Amino acid sequence: MFARSFIRQTGRQATRAFSTARASNNSLRNVAFGVGAAAALGATALATKPVHLDAPQSTIAGTEGTFSERSFVMIKPDGVSRQIVGKIISRFEERGYKLVAVKTVTPSKELAKEHYIDLAARPFYPGLVEYITSGTPVVALVWEGKDVIRQGRRMVGATNPLQSDPGSIRGTYAVSVGRNIIHASDSFESATKEIGLWFNEKELSNYQPIAWPWIFSDN
Ligand code: RTP
Ligand code: MG
Repeated sequence: MFARSFIRQTGRQATRAFSTARASNNSLRNVAFGVGAAAALGATALATKPVHLDAPQSTIAGTEGTFSERSFVMIKPDGVSRQIVGKIISRFEERGYKLVAVKTVTPSKELAKEHYIDLAARPFYPGLVEYITSGTPVVALVWEGKDVIRQGRRMVGATNPLQSDPGSIRGTYAVSVGRNIIHASDSFESATKEIGLWFNEKELSNYQPIAWPWIFSDN
């Protein structure tokens, strides 16, 4: 009894929070409608019925500056080898970002070179390509959510882990620029290129985590 009324109340609050947010785009209105509809179906439906966003992603990297923005993140071979994949994924989940895609990849030289093509003239480029193509897989991820590109870079930390904030991922797990555990897209343009390079569109999921209204509402 208590649980049912709590969940009903939770549903009402979630719906109200979204409806007072004065959403300016269609996707957000669709989320608000979806949650309200689920709440009206009662506690069981709210807990089990997925609520899909019916607005298509405007690009493979979503729409910059909205809750649909996406970033490409890669746990590099040292992160996989050191068995901290779960810990890194947890950080993004716990922050409130949505996992859109995940897979292990043992990158070819061609793929690694293309991913870091902007650095082709730098002296460390050959070593960087060797490191990424060591034979140990990487974990390729796409995360979605508000400001995920900029926040992802902050969570990852400075390129040289000795300059990364201690609470960042690199600042927690790494001490060497050549073994800095993780990559994250540094701009919307990079995210668009990198998601397209590592994934095809069918691999990118479109769903709404049940807690999203609690994560996105501003009041
Ligand atoms: P990433 O692309 O991997 O997320 O790294 P980032 O943006 O922080 O830094 P970027 O300049 O794009 O460099 C890419 C990766 O190259 C390696 N690196 N080594 N030896 C060096 O001086 C040096 N500088 C960069 C790092 O693995 C860096 O993450
Ligand atoms: Mg970079």
